[in-house]
Amino acid sequence: MFNQLKPMPADPILGLLSQFREDPRPLKVDLGVGVYKDPQGNTPILACVKTAERLRTETETTKVYIGPSGSAKFNQLICRLAFGAEHPVMAQDRVRAVSTPGGTGSLKVAADFIKRCNPNATVWVSNPTWANHISLFQGAGLQVKNYPYYDNVNNQLKFDDMLAALQQLGADDVVLLHACCHNPTGQDLTEAQWDQVVAVATERGFTPLIDMAYQGFGDGLERDAYGVRKMAQAVDAMLLCASCSKNFGLYRERIGACGVIAKNSQKAEIALSVMLHVIRANYSMPPAHGAALVETILDSAELTAQWLEELAVMRNRINGNRALLVDKIKAAGVTRDFGFIARQKGMFSFLGITPEQVARLQQEYGVYMVSSSRISVAGITEENVDYLAKAIAAVL
Ligand code: LMR
Repeated sequence: MFNQLKPMPADPILGLLSQFREDPRPLKVDLGVGVYKDPQGNTPILACVKTAERLRTETETTKVYIGPSGSAKFNQLICRLAFGAEHPVMAQDRVRAVSTPGGTGSLKVAADFIKRCNPNATVWVSNPTWANHISLFQGAGLQVKNYPYYDNVNNQLKFDDMLAALQQLGADDVVLLHACCHNPTGQDLTEAQWDQVVAVATERGFTPLIDMAYQGFGDGLERDAYGVRKMAQAVDAMLLCASCSKNFGLYRERIGACGVIAKNSQKAEIALSVMLHVIRANYSMPPAHGAALVETILDSAELTAQWLEELAVMRNRINGNRALLVDKIKAAGVTRDFGFIARQKGMFSFLGITPEQVARLQQEYGVYMVSSSRISVAGITEENVDYLAKAIAAVL
C-alpha cells in the first residue's frame, strides 16, 4: 500500500521552524512563520490568557463532548468581534457560526461547505496569497484560480487589474479576500477600495469569503473589520473565516470560527446544518479549551481591557519594527527604496529580493524567511536589526 509513496518537501513556511531551531549560529534571525515575538524574540502567553486559564481550571466541570458547532457563546462573541454588536446581519438573524480548530480549520470547513453548495464553484485567490489557501481549496476538490493583486516591481496594489478581474465573475465564483494584514504582502485594501470591491460583489453576485486571521494587528479591531462589515451589509451570502491564533496568541490551542451569512434566518439555519454535516465527517468537533479562554476574556470587562492593551502592544511593536527596518536598511548604505515596508500592515511584507538572495541570507547569515522573500516583521528586534540590515545590504 505505501510502497508507491514519494517523499513530499517540507511545507515552505512551517519547514522553516525546524531549520531555524537546528541552526547553531547565535546570530540567526527568524523571519519565517507568522507568530508574534516580543523584543526578546519570545512568543509569551498573554497575561489575560494566563488569568483566563486559571479561572477555567477552577470552574471547568466536565470534559464531555462539546458537539460539532463548538461553544455557542464563543461563536456569538466572535461574531460580535468581527461584525460589531449592532450589525444588521446579527439583528436580522442571518449569521450562523461554528468554532473551528484554528483559522486553517475554519478555511477547511468553508472549503468543504462550498463544495457542497456548488461542486463546480471556482475559488479565486489573490496573486499572491497564503500558500495553504490553494492547497486547502484544491484539497476539497474545488478549482482555484487567482486574481491580480500585488505588483512586485513597484511594491503596490494592482487595484485596477484586481477590480477588472472581479468584474468578470459571477454566481459560480467564490472570491477569497484578506480582511486585513494581507498574507504574504502586508498590502491591504483602503476603505475606499473595499467600497469598490463590495459594489462589484453585489453587482456580479459572486460569494465573498473573507479570511480574517489578523484582526487587531493592522489598524485596530474596528478598522481591521471595515471590509468584513461593509461586505456583510451588502451581499446576500458570505463566508467569514476568523482565527484567534494571533490576536489572542492561542496558536497551538487551535481556535477559530467559520461564519456563514445567508439571505434570511431560514436559509442560515439550512447552511448551518450543512456545515455541521461536513464538520462531523471531517474532525467531528473542535477542541474546547481555546474557545473557553476567549469566552472568559471577552465576557469579562476587566480581562477584555487587559487583552486590548496587550493586543495594542503587539500591534505597535510590529508596526514599529517596519519603520525601524526601513531606517536600518538605509543606514546600511542601501539606496533601493524599502519605504513600502513601513506603509504596509500586519505581520508580513515581501522584501522583493530574489530566491537566490533569500538562500544566501539563510546560508551565509542565518536569516530565515520564505523563499518568496516574505518576512515576518515580528521577528525583528532592537538587537538583531543592525545585523539583519547589514546582511540584506550584503546580498543586494
Ligand atoms: C504564516 O503564514 O506564517 C502563518 O499563518 C502560519 C502558518 O500556518 O502558515
